[in-house]
Amino acid sequence: MSYAIVNGKLVDRSEALVDIEDRGYQFGDGVYEVIRVYNGRMYTETDHLDRLARSTGSIDIQLPYTKEQLSAMLEELIKVNKLQQGIVYLQVTRGVAPRNHAYPTTDVTAALTAYTKEMQRPLEILKTGVKTILTEDIRWLRCDIKSLNLLGNSMAKQKAAEKGCYEAIQHRGQDVTEGSSSNVFIVKDGTVITHESNNLILKGITKDVILQLCEQHKIPVLEQTFTIDELAAADEVFLASTTSEVMPIIAIDGKTVGDGHPGAVTKKIQELFTREIEKQCGEL
Ligand code: PDD
Repeated sequence: MSYAIVNGKLVDRSEALVDIEDRGYQFGDGVYEVIRVYNGRMYTETDHLDRLARSTGSIDIQLPYTKEQLSAMLEELIKVNKLQQGIVYLQVTRGVAPRNHAYPTTDVTAALTAYTKEMQRPLEILKTGVKTILTEDIRWLRCDIKSLNLLGNSMAKQKAAEKGCYEAIQHRGQDVTEGSSSNVFIVKDGTVITHESNNLILKGITKDVILQLCEQHKIPVLEQTFTIDELAAADEVFLASTTSEVMPIIAIDGKTVGDGHPGAVTKKIQELFTREIEKQCGEL
């Protein structure tokens, strides 16, 4: 039996149902987080809960629990589900109210749901790398909020899937923004470059860990916008996310990146990232 959390309570997964007038369901009026679990322990949990608070704060949703309460709930969920390798998904919506675009004026309690899913590390493709496509970024201008509205992201990912690719790299005009569910990095002449964390991308937790690791290990790194031409001319390209970790990109729109194999800088960052996980969660 698997459990989920609905509004603070552990329930049987099959009984974790929401009202049809939940604003998350009708308007996508909510936010979410995906936290990696290694060896039964959450990785960078605090950063995810901090980002959740930033996301809810930016759309005026009051989180009905403290971070400590949330953390205790998630730990309990992982324990009862006996999760070793996988993810915790949690989302907070504005709650249930009669349908109206504007926020409800009466007191409505935000709705929290969470569940876990078993997921192994993608070891095979972390070694070989993945293929991607390029696609125009058609999303809204608050991509910094980890909103439930993922239609633009889903459409981009679907395009990639139809081409047998792992991810869609999005661009606004000439500028590369991010993947449909990941941040994108290029390496040029030994320098790692990734889009600055502004309203056009999600400030990835994995991205932030990578930036810190680069600084600690004296790998030159820049947070600045790069273009699709710079992407095409890069020595190495990789993407980063909670579920994909540091994933080498070996092709974009059928064109090979570098020599078609994961590059040296990418491999070095993968190694550092793995060590970082082990520091928090034990041996992998
Ligand atoms: N995706 N950019 C977008 C649009 C994302 O959806 C994600 C994460 C990231 C990387 O963020 P982080 O390193 O904090 O996971 C960047 C999650 C995993 C998802 O939607 O499943």
